[in-house]
Amino acid sequence: MHSSIIILSTTILAIESSCDETSASICVDGKILSNVTANQTVHEQYGGVVPELASRAHMQNIVPVVDAAIKKANAIHDSQFTIHDIDAIAFTQSPGLIGSLLVGAQFAKSLALSLNKPLIAVHHMQAHVLANLIAEPKPDFSFLCLTVSGGHTQIVIAHSPLQLEIIGETIDDAAGEAFDKTAKMLGLPYPGGPLIDKYAQQGNPKAFKFAEPQIPGLNFSFSGLKTSVLYFLQDEVKKDENFIDKNLVDLCAAIQFTIINILMKKLKKATEQTKIKQVCIAGGVSANSGLRTALKEYGSKYNWQTFIPAFEYCTDNAAMIAITAHYKFLSNDFADLSVSPSARAEW
Ligand code: KG4
Ligand code: ZN
Repeated sequence: MHSSIIILSTTILAIESSCDETSASICVDGKILSNVTANQTVHEQYGGVVPELASRAHMQNIVPVVDAAIKKANAIHDSQFTIHDIDAIAFTQSPGLIGSLLVGAQFAKSLALSLNKPLIAVHHMQAHVLANLIAEPKPDFSFLCLTVSGGHTQIVIAHSPLQLEIIGETIDDAAGEAFDKTAKMLGLPYPGGPLIDKYAQQGNPKAFKFAEPQIPGLNFSFSGLKTSVLYFLQDEVKKDENFIDKNLVDLCAAIQFTIINILMKKLKKATEQTKIKQVCIAGGVSANSGLRTALKEYGSKYNWQTFIPAFEYCTDNAAMIAITAHYKFLSNDFADLSVSPSARAEW
């Protein structure tokens, strides 16, 4: 007689719908099998995300995106599981646009109810941090993470996957907003961050100098930079109406250089204060090529071990919701069907 051990794997379906990306991911035992994201281009013409249009687009996208995530996972895994084989359903509970969050939350809750599966509520900012746990090598705990997105800028100590401590954050605009708002001043469409990144690669970062704030501690401020760029442009355009066109790449390079400097100086200060040398970045702005390079340069100069999520896991995506849900599942951290989404950021 022999005994056999049956190891059951856990399959999680995760949904992200906090802003203008509808995304679904399938994760098996902490391994991401698929991450399918529908971007909403409808907002470009308005220079920013229009909440009502975002909710409507989520409604249109959510079923096809979930379906595509399951199909893709099956293709990769060479399996044939269906929605009935999912062990838990995860969704972004907060923070975000309430109408957008509601679409994902209602969808996840309905599925959980009809399939009789557990529900996992995920905090979007925690998920950005844990995107660093998707691929190998993973950072060891405790690690530091600079999370830079369109709505937030934070330095966080991750003591464990589910125990995060914010040690610094912005007192006004987020880093992503600094990119997007200055891009708008340059006449670039929304979201301007990726375009500033693209043009900056051809420009001289020292061509112009913009204000860097003097904020004590580990907090950030970006409103001074925004004003400094605005006044500078107004003065120069008065002298030469084609100033922006003629200097676009240098302006992008100088703006990006200033934002990265502000971020990296505080991150360095955080490593000194905490003595933690495992350093990650996360969030949409961590897709920025200049910031990625700067992190690696600081890493080799100051002897940090640095980690950056793959591009598709930097901007909003469901894989980061899935990896967070994986750790919550292991801790039996489930949500009740009465759970409701919240626009606010409280952890
Ligand atoms: O994390 P994310 O996708 O959404 C939020 O949770 O806010 O971040 C979006 C932000 C936008 O401000 C966008 O301009 C910025 O990330 N972003 C970038 C780049 N890619 C996205 N900023 C600078 N350089 C990039 N390559
Ligand atoms: Zn985000």
